Amino acid sequence: MSKKRVLSGMQSSGKLHLGNYLGALENWVKMQEEYDCYYFVADWHALSSNYEDTRELKDNVIDMGINWLAAGVDPEKSTLFIQSLIPQHAVLYLLLGMITPIPWLERVPSYKEKLENVENRDMHTHGFLGYPVLQAADIVLYKANLVPVGIDQLPHLELTREIVRHFHNIYKKQVFVEPEAKMGEVKKLPGLDGRKMSKSYGNAIFLSDTPEERAKKIAVIVTDPARVKRTDPGHPEVCHAFSFHKVFTPAERVPAIEADCRSAAIGCVACKKELAQNVAKYMEKFDAERAKFAGNPKRVLEILHEGTKKASKVAAQTLAEAEDAMGISIPKI
Ligand code: TRP
Ligand code: SF4
Repeated sequence: MSKKRVLSGMQSSGKLHLGNYLGALENWVKMQEEYDCYYFVADWHALSSNYEDTRELKDNVIDMGINWLAAGVDPEKSTLFIQSLIPQHAVLYLLLGMITPIPWLERVPSYKEKLENVENRDMHTHGFLGYPVLQAADIVLYKANLVPVGIDQLPHLELTREIVRHFHNIYKKQVFVEPEAKMGEVKKLPGLDGRKMSKSYGNAIFLSDTPEERAKKIAVIVTDPARVKRTDPGHPEVCHAFSFHKVFTPAERVPAIEADCRSAAIGCVACKKELAQNVAKYMEKFDAERAKFAGNPKRVLEILHEGTKKASKVAAQTLAEAEDAMGISIPKI
């Protein structure tokens, strides 16, 4: 039996942080043992919000590759590629766009939310409305069975399934596979201020941060506001540093921290120092690998190009099938 196919992408709109590492990358690495994995840099998706200032886009693509490889995504096992190097993504996006009703797109939660919240640029663009159609094209081009995504992406997956069914209904041919979302057991990590960790909130610890930079950030994680004096007993359940401990500190040590916090046997400064050490340890291998790949961006680009070559063949085959189903292939001469 052949392996199920997994496909996932990351929008290359900036530096990755610890939340991305735990939420997605660790999961990607695990999945490559069991599945035929395709992972790609969604650089066109990044353009949907950063269409004016494109200065960092190219570097972000390489940086993404560096982080993936450092995390252990293995080009021998998985196919790594760059969206914008495979024009079939754009062609299928156009074709699917022909059959996708605009109201389906207008009711996608991320669309409404961003229109309301993004202030410094005009998001009323065709490309931004069509974002989930491009995502659908990304997925169905590879006939992916499973798409590992976070909870925020579930509506995009549902829309993809709807578009697939709609296509099959109209053209009476089953070309695509209806993908399923696959949510890993994700370790939950808040940002320094307790909100969701996000580059745009300024509350993130980046994969490119040094252990010293991370320790400085850890020192300002919001703790139990009731612990004003060193002798005040703490409440780990409301402390965001404790949420970090639950992820990075060896499980057998966590109950002792919890008890020492409640009895005020340990102070927040010492508690966070220990946390910083545990984070450093957890990320030690990643950091070393990252330094290696960051020192050889040419090799990283090579790997992405090699994967792109392989992915292109699959994409071309599926697009041809889709055009045939639609009856629009122009005969060759
Ligand atoms: N929209 C996804 C995100 O922001 C990125 C993405 C683009 C994606 N195309 C995809 C994820 C296809 C999975 C499959 O995280
Ligand atoms: Fe949080 Fe640790 Fe301070 Fe308790 S001692 S409030 S767990 S930082």
